[in-house]
Order: sequence, then structure tokens, then C-alpha cells
Amino acid sequence: MTPLPDTAPDITVTTLLADTSQRTLADDVLAGLSASPKTLPPKHFYDSVGAELFDQICDLPEYYPTRAEREILVTQSAQIAQLTGATELVELGAGSADKTRVLLTALSEAGTLDTYVPMDVAEQQLRQVCEAIADEYPGLKVHGVAGDFLRHMDAVPASEGPRIVALLGGTVGNFIGADRADLLAGISAALRPTDYLLLGTDLVKDRAPLEAAYDDSQGVTAAFNRNVLQVINRELDADFDLNSFEHIALYNEQEEQIEMRLRSTLAQEVTIKNLSALRVVFEAGEEILTEVSAKFTPERLEQDLAGAGLELAWFETDSAGQFALSLSHPQLSP
Ligand code: AVJ
Repeated sequence: MTPLPDTAPDITVTTLLADTSQRTLADDVLAGLSASPKTLPPKHFYDSVGAELFDQICDLPEYYPTRAEREILVTQSAQIAQLTGATELVELGAGSADKTRVLLTALSEAGTLDTYVPMDVAEQQLRQVCEAIADEYPGLKVHGVAGDFLRHMDAVPASEGPRIVALLGGTVGNFIGADRADLLAGISAALRPTDYLLLGTDLVKDRAPLEAAYDDSQGVTAAFNRNVLQVINRELDADFDLNSFEHIALYNEQEEQIEMRLRSTLAQEVTIKNLSALRVVFEAGEEILTEVSAKFTPERLEQDLAGAGLELAWFETDSAGQFALSLSHPQLSP
């Protein structure tokens, strides 16, 4: 039996989704499936089934990023705690916050940690994570934010001491072009001079391990990919037949990114009742782009950070050089 903490857990959860999440899905599906080529944004993967499938992906033998990032956190968290002196950890897209515990432990051992602010669109999982972490770290203030970190950065409560804003797992790679610039600029704007961005980035490497990581032999990633159609079926009363969409994951060497698609195996029509009975026509072999996962070189990372007014302060990879963690902070104005 774990002893009970002598004070009640200090947990708050702010929800910013209820009013808008349905609307965002409808808007995104309408825009994405009317476009040519068809697209869907990856954030809609993460209903409770999708969040669970993603956790299974992290345990797959082919999916190296989670283990590589964990290795860096295990070897470097004390250093990160020392460099930042953070009293608060804000985690964007916290998910199950599995790896986060390594960092939380190092920060509490350094004696500085006061508050953990996980932010995620998967509200149910977020609530469980808040409870669990408050339990495991007695005395820690936990303030969950159920929100979208592109739109709700301003809901992160103000803090007194230095903060780490963490975006782990390579999630930044889901954002391309202007979206990534906006995301990094939004984070940069929220950082004060003593705050740091802790960013996880997957690195450019050979095609084979990349494609294996996104097309595993057990078909978990395929199920994760198709689940977005199930989300649309449920939330927007659509009639996608999941069996007639094939999972595709290819590395685009030119753009240095993995691209996941769902390919219609036959000519078909799908009706989306809650989008004014929109009829979406698929030719045989037609694809929906469902996720882009960018892979970085250190140069590209520095460029993207600089574009948002951020300066690289620290950079480490795992021992196999597959994945990188970096700390950056707002550039001092000249
Ligand atoms: C959560 C965005 C980091 O891009 O590797 C895993 C999502 N998609 N397998 C990634 C994902 C397919 C993952 N991120």
C-alpha cells in the first residue's frame, strides 16, 4: 500500500473543448474531404480508442521514437533540471505522460518543481493522468488543460518561477510549413526570458526503419490510421466502410517526412449525415492524406526555431542518433 499524502491532492482541470471540438471536426472534415487531394488533420486520431492505439504504437518493436526519447530523458533529465531550474512543467499534447514522469522525478529531486500543467485534446485520458500524477507526486500542483495547444496556449496559467514548456514525442513534426511556424511562434510568445521550450524531434534517417515504424507488422498503426474514419462515423454520423481503406505509410525523401494515407480500394461514395448529408466520392485508389510526420536535421531544427525567435541552448540525441531533445529560449532582443 502506498501511504496517503497528508494533504489532499491539488488538481484543477480546465476544459476548453466542449463548445468547439465538434465544430472543429465538422469544419476540418468538410474542408479536407472537399479538397483535392483529400486530407484530414491528424489531431482527430485521438479519441479514447485512438489514444489507446497510440499507446500501443509506442510499445511496438518497430516504433523507435518513444524508446529513443525515453533514453535521452533518462540520461539527461538531471541536466535539464539543472539548466532550467524549472518550477513548472507545461506539457503540450501530454497523452499518457509516461515519459514525463522521468522529467518530473528529476525536477522534484532538484527541489524546484511546484506545478505540472498537462494539456491535451484527449480529455478523458487527461483527467486520468492528472489524478495519477497528483497521486505519485504528493504536494505537486496539477493543472490539466483540456485544449488544443494551437488555440489555447493563453489558458496556461501564469507562473512565478522558470517554466519548461515541453512538446515531446516528435509531435512538432505533425505541423508543416506555416502551421509549424505558427505553432513555434505561439509557444515563443508564451515564453518569458527565463522559460525554455523542451522539444522532441525525430531525425532524418534511412527509409527502411522510418517506413517500418509507421507500418508495423501487427497492423496497429493501420488500425490507428483507419480509426479516424470511425471518429467521423460516430461524431458526424457518416458511413465510412473501414475495410475498404488501405493503410499507406511512405517516406518522402525530398520533404524529409513520413506521409500516412488511407487509400480507397474501390470506387465508392460516403455520406456524412451531420454535414448536410455531404456525399464524398472516391475513385478506386484515391487517397486521403491523414498525417505528415516531419523528420529533422539539426540545421532544420535551428532554422525553424530561429524563425520563431528561439535560440537553441542545448541539444542531445539518443546513443543511436535516432531522435533528439533540445532546449531553446527566447532570443534576447539586440
Ligand atoms: C504523436 C505525432 C509524434 O508522428 O510519430 C505514430 C504519431 N502516427 N504512428 C508520430 C504517429 C503514426 C506520432 N506523433
